[in-house]
Amino acid sequence: MPTLLLTRKDVDGLLDMKATIEVVEQAFRDWALGRASMPVKAYLILERGDFRAMPAALPGAVGVKWVNVHPQNPSRGLPTVMATMIYNDPQTGYPLAIMDATDITAYRTGAAAAIASKYLARKDSVTLGIVGAGRQAQTQLLAHAALFDFRLVKVYDIVAEAVQRFVQSFPRYRIQASSLEDTVASDIVCTVTPARAPIVKKEWVRPGTHINAIGADAEGKEELEPDVLKGARVVVDDLRQASLAGEINVPVSQGLFRVDEVYASLGDIVIGRKPGRHDAKAVTIFDSTGLAIEDVAVARLVYEQAKQRGDYLEVDLVGS
Ligand SMILES: NC(=O)c1ccc[n+]([C@@H]2O[C@H](COP(=O)([O-])OP(=O)(O)OC[C@H]3O[C@@H](n4cnc5c(N)ncnc54)[C@H](O)[C@@H]3O)[C@@H](O)[C@H]2O)c1
Repeated sequence: MPTLLLTRKDVDGLLDMKATIEVVEQAFRDWALGRASMPVKAYLILERGDFRAMPAALPGAVGVKWVNVHPQNPSRGLPTVMATMIYNDPQTGYPLAIMDATDITAYRTGAAAAIASKYLARKDSVTLGIVGAGRQAQTQLLAHAALFDFRLVKVYDIVAEAVQRFVQSFPRYRIQASSLEDTVASDIVCTVTPARAPIVKKEWVRPGTHINAIGADAEGKEELEPDVLKGARVVVDDLRQASLAGEINVPVSQGLFRVDEVYASLGDIVIGRKPGRHDAKAVTIFDSTGLAIEDVAVARLVYEQAKQRGDYLEVDLVGS
């Protein structure tokens, strides 16, 4: 029986943002309805970065992603985040595919944030602010642009060239290099940096803003002043992971925010168990740690597309 081997280029040619948003939203639905299985991701901490092992099962699909975060990698010409996915047959465990999941990670992270914005941001949102102009920033823009019609996108990065590269990558959009404060003064704000101390100040956040806090996805990382969380409607992708590794992890460990102050999980809002935005002036925050169910959902999409199109490398991995 063959195992498909899909390179980053293969996967890139098979990914589609609209389809990614659909399957990721379905994964949140399945998770909230108890139809998925996902242990908390396991971290392996190294001197210069870390690895995470992320297994999950959805109805009819199962797999595991092995992903790193090495923030100094761009200076070596490598992505900060790279990933490999093993996608298996849930009936037999057979490895159906081994695929690069670097862009699966970026697409599903953008998709999860855009889904959160769909339920939590004001419907009349016309400005998008992106803090940190690296790889994840690109798919934040792509995913949000699939659901919103922005008049202006504002971008800030501590590295000026990163902003320039970002602007050049998206000639079709009206993107403005902005100060950090001005970027935060947007209807929807996505923070996508590896910061380990707060960079977004409470006084900059306007009433009615929705923030997707994406960058903090490991213990000790945070991007928002803890005061930003206070009084905001905080929604997590998964409470277990968010308490240990999400935007709330540092404030919780310092006693500045309590886990029971979290309003809901995104899945609860997607299935209608809890309402999303309730008032035009509320500040809402989506604390994203990144879920293995998102990866498995997108891996299935990629695998099915690859099987349909054919012509990808197959190996007899297990043999007989
Ligand atoms: N929540 C999730 O699901 C998820 C998924 C993937 C990555 N991440 C996290 O997102 C973050 C970004 O990942 P990436 O792949 O885009 O990395 P990247 O290295 O491609 O980009 C990060 C960018 O942030 C900029 N930056 C660093 N510190 C900054 C600061 N204080 N202010 C403004 N800009 C700053 C860097 O210059 C760089 O351009 C990482 O922390 C990563 O772990 C989260």
